[in-house]
Amino acid sequence: MLVVGATRGLGLAVVEEYVGRGAHVVATERSDGPSGLRTLAERHREAVEVERLDVTRPEQVAALRERLRGRTFDLLLVVAGISLAPQEAVGVDIATDDFTRMMETNVLGVMRTVEGLDGLVAADGTVAVMSSGQGSVANNTSGGFEVYRATKAALNQMVRSYAVRQAGGSRSILLLAPGWVRTDMGGSGATLEVSESIPPLVDTIEAQRGRPGLRFLDRHGDDVPW
Ligand SMILES: NC(=O)c1ccc[n+]([C@@H]2O[C@H](COP(=O)([O-])OP(=O)(O)OC[C@H]3O[C@@H](n4cnc5c(N)ncnc54)[C@H](OP(=O)(O)O)[C@@H]3O)[C@@H](O)[C@H]2O)c1
Repeated sequence: MLVVGATRGLGLAVVEEYVGRGAHVVATERSDGPSGLRTLAERHREAVEVERLDVTRPEQVAALRERLRGRTFDLLLVVAGISLAPQEAVGVDIATDDFTRMMETNVLGVMRTVEGLDGLVAADGTVAVMSSGQGSVANNTSGGFEVYRATKAALNQMVRSYAVRQAGGSRSILLLAPGWVRTDMGGSGATLEVSESIPPLVDTIEAQRGRPGLRFLDRHGDDVPW
């Protein structure tokens, strides 16, 4: 497994879950220093390798691809994402810099990572991206989190275009909605503990193994409306 954006939150939980299931995981941090990932890697030296990647730095994507050249992964999962100024309405309050950084990280950075690293994935492996239920245009009846939603909707659209280019291939391509989870991003008011989201989400990723094509799925494996 290759998991991008794994220092804390959902990415770290995915790595822990896979290690608990006996997998070997290469997991990335964007800067060095203490983190949950570092602690996990020290506890499981055989099972966890830590690599460096900031998804907004294309030269780091290329460098990671070079360092991993010759290896093959069953799964590439890109979890990295940010939510800045979540309550601000677009066009009213949002700082241009916050808007740009969110789009750069959640859309451009994630897609550059997918396109830059997918050559390391087995021909019948899985390319998965952490989207969000908030990326569903059809389900947006409550509003709020306007820019964050827009980044995930744009990401979904980008992954659909990517999947069209992969048509006829054997890979499973997944957009994942983990639910609203208590992490630094999700906040303390979120409805789910990490332990309620990630084990079923990993079950869903594994259930899709060997099923080619694109799906937008929640943690239980149910389709999310686009
Ligand atoms: N929590 C939820 O309720 C929820 C719901 C739906 C979807 N999601 C999505 O799930 C993903 C993880 O969310 P989370 O709740 O775990 O958030 P989080 O606790 O804030 O963790 C975000 C992770 O992304 C990494 N990251 C941020 N910018 C990066 C960059 N430029 N390059 C590489 N890594 C970067 C962070 O690394 P650092 O430690 O270096 O900052 C951290 O590991 C995000 O894509 C989020 O949109 C979350």
